Amino acid sequence: MSIKIKTAEQIEGIRKSSRLAAEALKYLEQFVVAGNTTELINQKAHEFVKMHNARPASLNYHGFPKSICTSPNEVICHGIPGPYVLKDGDILNIDVTTILDKYFGDTCKMYAIGEISSEAKKLIEVAGQCLRIGIEQCRPGNRLGNIGYYINEHAQKHGYSVVYEFCGHGVGLKFHEDPEVSHIAEKDTGPRLRPGMIFTVEPMINEGKSRAKIDKVDGWTARTIDGKLSAQFEHTILITDTGNEALTDVYHEF
Ligand code: MF3
Ligand code: CO
Ligand code: CO
Repeated sequence: MSIKIKTAEQIEGIRKSSRLAAEALKYLEQFVVAGNTTELINQKAHEFVKMHNARPASLNYHGFPKSICTSPNEVICHGIPGPYVLKDGDILNIDVTTILDKYFGDTCKMYAIGEISSEAKKLIEVAGQCLRIGIEQCRPGNRLGNIGYYINEHAQKHGYSVVYEFCGHGVGLKFHEDPEVSHIAEKDTGPRLRPGMIFTVEPMINEGKSRAKIDKVDGWTARTIDGKLSAQFEHTILITDTGNEALTDVYHEF
């Protein structure tokens, strides 16, 4: 495993790309309403990213056919935008990764369509807390494993499970770089964090069992095995001299 330490110039580029990814999530809010398809949201995202002289990193990534991931309800991640019509009570994750001037920024968040159940609200709230708790561990000298350790502890406290089949990842010069950021790791394990490292923290929190199953037909959509809800938030994190800067946390919404 070799974790790249980014230069000041690279950091500035990744910061700009990350900001754009965050702005895209904000822009898309107006379209995440009952009656709209996930394909419409994909089109709006594609246009927004292009308009800002960037490209959506997901499009054609290992054959992924769309510009963003849209993951409703029991979909954990990697949902493919399509004819699915959003309805009142749905929850939806949108994941945007941008390439701006060759630099990558990666972020996702949850949206509620109309009035959602108190169970769904609680899950989304705890998933957001899990990301915050993971980010709190991002400081120089700390061990990478502590991010996942404290995320998992918080999720379990609320009776939820953490997905272990998908991880956070180094990001910036490529879509997925070292290190792999586990969201269930053991305390005080893994490499020490250093200023200039950039990686995502993106815990997926399940109401029921942690296991994922991949759709046999499309080869991408990852769903919970028990059909229960899943929620995820993601930020791109820079380790600084004193702690961290969440490069995609432009709006401080959760
Ligand atoms: N953006 C996702 C992540 O957070 C990866 C999506 S890969 C795709 O790592 F091919 F499904 F787009
Ligand atoms: Co990511
Ligand atoms: Co992402």
